[in-house]
Amino acid sequence: MNRLILSIESSCDDSSIAITDVDTLELIYHKKISQELEHSVYGGVVPELASRLHAEALPKILSECEEWFSKLVAIAVTSTPGLAVTLIEGVMMAKALSIALDIPLIGVNHLKGHIYSLFIEKETVFPLTTLLVSGGHTQVIEVKSLDEMEVVASSMDDSFGESFDKVAKMMGLGYPGGPLIEKLAHDGDRTKYNFTIPLSQSPKIAFSYSGLKNAVRLAVEKGSESDHKDIAASFEHIASAHITQKLKKYFKKVKPINFAIVGGASANLYLRTQIEELIKPHNSKLFLSELKYCSDNAAMIGRVAVDMYHKKQFTPLDELTSSSRSPL
Ligand code: KG4
Ligand code: ZN
Repeated sequence: MNRLILSIESSCDDSSIAITDVDTLELIYHKKISQELEHSVYGGVVPELASRLHAEALPKILSECEEWFSKLVAIAVTSTPGLAVTLIEGVMMAKALSIALDIPLIGVNHLKGHIYSLFIEKETVFPLTTLLVSGGHTQVIEVKSLDEMEVVASSMDDSFGESFDKVAKMMGLGYPGGPLIEKLAHDGDRTKYNFTIPLSQSPKIAFSYSGLKNAVRLAVEKGSESDHKDIAASFEHIASAHITQKLKKYFKKVKPINFAIVGGASANLYLRTQIEELIKPHNSKLFLSELKYCSDNAAMIGRVAVDMYHKKQFTPLDELTSSSRSPL
């Protein structure tokens, strides 16, 4: 008899549910309803709107999962970090299911989820150094195991993905900005605007995007719409060069056997190519999530939950809360 885990993700603007087989890792069911269109007119995620859309979408997806209810052995849910008003939608659903089906809860850290997006329907590979680039985070994380993860570098202000969202908003392109800027940059001249690489004089391995964002804002204000593709290309180039410059410093100190890029913004092909070039001489093995699992989804939450289930890491009902900010 199959043992299955149902997992729920609602930390931002994607409503998603997955069902994963605890023993074979098979992803039995996976669905995601994105709210990009609804938020696009505002140039970013509106938390209250996102919360209301989760309240509509999650029950709709759940109704497709009833045939597996009798085989469920746990309910997993993203509990942190994320938007407080959207996390609570998933957490409430998870609690209701846990009580109704009398099975344990597993509260999952969303960042661990992004790391485990590498291992959907696969065995884990550790140790692993991970670059996490998403809308909320730009971090380098050293991963030894499920429970031993250390953030060794992070952003001091905006994240990589967020800076794409803000630049897209400045250009009136909509949301999410990452894919829109990447597309626009494709035909642009990467050398046209000589933006400064952030923190290039600092020995610290850390990230910062607010200065670059402001430099881009000035260029957008000064130029016309016909300049946007060159601004986008130059911005994408410098935003990525900032990461590769800091990773170069990291690789001088540490020689990771395995290196991975995860998170929604890891879908950026220019960044991927730059990092591939960077790690070539170091003989590290590069791991990338499948494109469909880069952005937020419940399959990655379910994959973490399988490992937590085997370690009996359950969360008591009254201890499962949604928390907007929480370290790994
Ligand atoms: O991981 P994710 O789905 O949500 C968070 O946990 O934040 O990441 C979403 C972020 C957004 O900021 C989006 O603009 C960015 O990832 N993103 C990209 C690309 N695709 C998505 N950024 C740059 N290039 C892309 N191709
Ligand atoms: Zn995410």
